[in-house]
Amino acid sequence: IPVDEFDLVIFGGTGDLARRKILPGLFRRYLAGQMPRGSRIIGAARTEMDDAGYREMVSEAVAEFGGPEKADATGLADFLAALRYVAIDATGDGGWSDLAALMRDGVVRAFYFSVAPSLFGDLAERLHTYGIADRNSRIVVEKPFGRDLASAKALNDTLAAHFNEGQIYRIDHYLGKETVQNLMAVRFGNVLFEPLWNSHYVDHIQITVAETVGVGGRGAYYDKSGAMRDMVQNHLMQLLCLIAMEPPSVFGADEVRDEKLKVIRALQPVESHHIVRGQYDANGDTPSFRADVENPRSFTESFIAMKVNVSNWRWADTPFYLRTGKKMKGRASEIAVVFKDLGHSIFEGDTARHRNILAIRLQPNEGIDLQVTIKEPGPGGMRLIDVPLDMTFADALGDDAEPATDAYERLIMDVIRGNQTLFMRGDEVEAAWAWTDPLINGWEARNDVPKLYDQGSAGPEDAMMLMHRDGRRWRDVK
Ligand code: BG6
Repeated sequence: IPVDEFDLVIFGGTGDLARRKILPGLFRRYLAGQMPRGSRIIGAARTEMDDAGYREMVSEAVAEFGGPEKADATGLADFLAALRYVAIDATGDGGWSDLAALMRDGVVRAFYFSVAPSLFGDLAERLHTYGIADRNSRIVVEKPFGRDLASAKALNDTLAAHFNEGQIYRIDHYLGKETVQNLMAVRFGNVLFEPLWNSHYVDHIQITVAETVGVGGRGAYYDKSGAMRDMVQNHLMQLLCLIAMEPPSVFGADEVRDEKLKVIRALQPVESHHIVRGQYDANGDTPSFRADVENPRSFTESFIAMKVNVSNWRWADTPFYLRTGKKMKGRASEIAVVFKDLGHSIFEGDTARHRNILAIRLQPNEGIDLQVTIKEPGPGGMRLIDVPLDMTFADALGDDAEPATDAYERLIMDVIRGNQTLFMRGDEVEAAWAWTDPLINGWEARNDVPKLYDQGSAGPEDAMMLMHRDGRRWRDVK
């Protein structure tokens, strides 16, 4: 379904995110017929360039990051015709009148702030001074949304000086992932799961986001951030919220976000012995984390595992174990809901522990599988085995499946539609920082040294112990 006609301005339109994600994503939406023909994308950045130069840059970005669709030469030529470029000085006056002159009335105006947060205030102010933003305009901002509660509040205040909450779209790209949305469909669209979705039946929940990549070229940013700020405060927190929240009355932006906020506010402070921080070690010629971030004394974590309690009626006795790290054994992100053991087995001699596990795989190989116990086929009597009921979306939907949409392209279309359900509200972000601040302050005050772990492993040994102490174990990271 096509969205309304729009003018989308990308501040930071020549940057890494624009080239890798935003522009190739928009191209795919264009080919899919979702971007109306008259719509325009206006790149805005400091570099002096004309429209032709920008189109050239975008065509290279599509060639590099565009996926299989990049081969559509006619589609690409039409898409490039929708692009404009304005050289702009975010902190001065240069270029702003040119941008104002380009904007059209009667179409949705959206502004993507793909720039450092320190520029948000300057951009917001100038959009108003030059009469570019109107009451229906939308702005899109990216993480990092602050690095603690105070800075997140300051950013919220800066934006609130010029835009109301209904105009602000804070992206957490994990919310745009297909399976993350499917998680809500599975929970709230089936009669099977919701009655069991509580402490009476769920033993614990594991959320793993394991990556094989290191910090890449982002060492300077990452060393100041670490896994807690980079992944837990936002992506893992959002996953936890969707698993733990109460059913909203309708699938509406504020209804969903109200429920998520309640979860964040119900998080208990985490005791320091329930947190394991790790840092990847050198491996032969492959440099260590400290070498990658060029800081031989770095105490920043590239891995974190923690046991978290949601202190409310539904989850009082069910811990949530979270872990995420770089340079791990496999790239595997999943949420596993591990149900309790049966209290009693009627099958004589069956001493094994059988458990139902609902595993929601975010990537790769998106899908859901449910581990169930059945009789081992054959004449051997009532011997029980656990097998997965596997629903890999690509297999289940076959040829009818829409080609996978990247999280960004889906979220940008939601911005144009004016649907904020999959975006973080200001109070949610602040509540998440209010929970993480004391944990980070705690280990900084203790000068906590992260445990070293081998590259290509499942993280430090202590992370295993975090589970073992409770008689549980992590699922394998493939
Ligand atoms: C980003 C983090 O938000 O998410 C990165 O800053 C991380 O460090 C990335 O690699 C992971 O996203 P995805 O979609 O590849 O799981």
